[in-house]
Amino acid sequence: MNLHRWIKHFEKNGSHRPEPDWNAPLALSGRTLKKLRQSIQQFQLGDGGGPASLIAWNRDEYLSEPALKQVIDLWFKEEREHSRLLGDMLKRLGGEEIKSHWSFELFCGMRKYLGIQFELAALLGTEIVSHVYYKMLRKHGGDPALRGMCDLIIRDETGHIAFHRSRLAAEGIRNGCRYGWFWALRFRLRGVMAGTVLWVNHRGALLALGATDAEFYRWIWRDANLFIHALRRQSLAMRHRLEHDAPARARRTAMTCGITPERGI
Ligand SMILES: [Fe+2]
Ligand SMILES: [Fe+2]
Repeated sequence: MNLHRWIKHFEKNGSHRPEPDWNAPLALSGRTLKKLRQSIQQFQLGDGGGPASLIAWNRDEYLSEPALKQVIDLWFKEEREHSRLLGDMLKRLGGEEIKSHWSFELFCGMRKYLGIQFELAALLGTEIVSHVYYKMLRKHGGDPALRGMCDLIIRDETGHIAFHRSRLAAEGIRNGCRYGWFWALRFRLRGVMAGTVLWVNHRGALLALGATDAEFYRWIWRDANLFIHALRRQSLAMRHRLEHDAPARARRTAMTCGITPERGI
């Protein structure tokens, strides 16, 4: 994985971020406002409002490479920014921030005790399903500040999902995983499970805005499939590059050392 490319991506993504128009007239009222307030309250805690770092008990070994640690820090910095945006949205909706929620505590406990591979997989699942949540809010919520906030978060989450794809493609090369049908089946099932956990807590808000159950699950299924297909393509391209670059690199090294391929090493 080209970590320096990811550092550049996050640095570039930090600029040109138009602040949502928090002072625009509120286009929400009654039951919709109440349900959305509850939903944003939980998201403000869950999306960057908790620990802004990996918390798995064995994370230190994974983070031993400084460039990777820098990329992970930049990723969590954006998550922290999501919490700030959601906090401002919550104020606009007349709500107050919460400090804990059973689903968040359970999620953090599992991330901590089940190890780094579980944590990364769980965070990827969360990225995909929360991306769907924000896209549905963007589509159905008529409020200008809500849309402005969703635009920023959707843009960031698109990058986070792409980062996880690069990470998995590189790991697949190292451990020989080709992301075949069995892996894809488990990935889709995990996506549906993570989506259901989100839906249990946020269904009321999205339905009040005009979304439907079928639309949510269709979107989850579609985005999980898009991820699988893009990961396979990226993995294949990486493998192809490695297979074709390795002999060329070996030839270049041999020439530099004054050893021609014909003479052998
Ligand atoms: Fe986020
Ligand atoms: Fe994210």
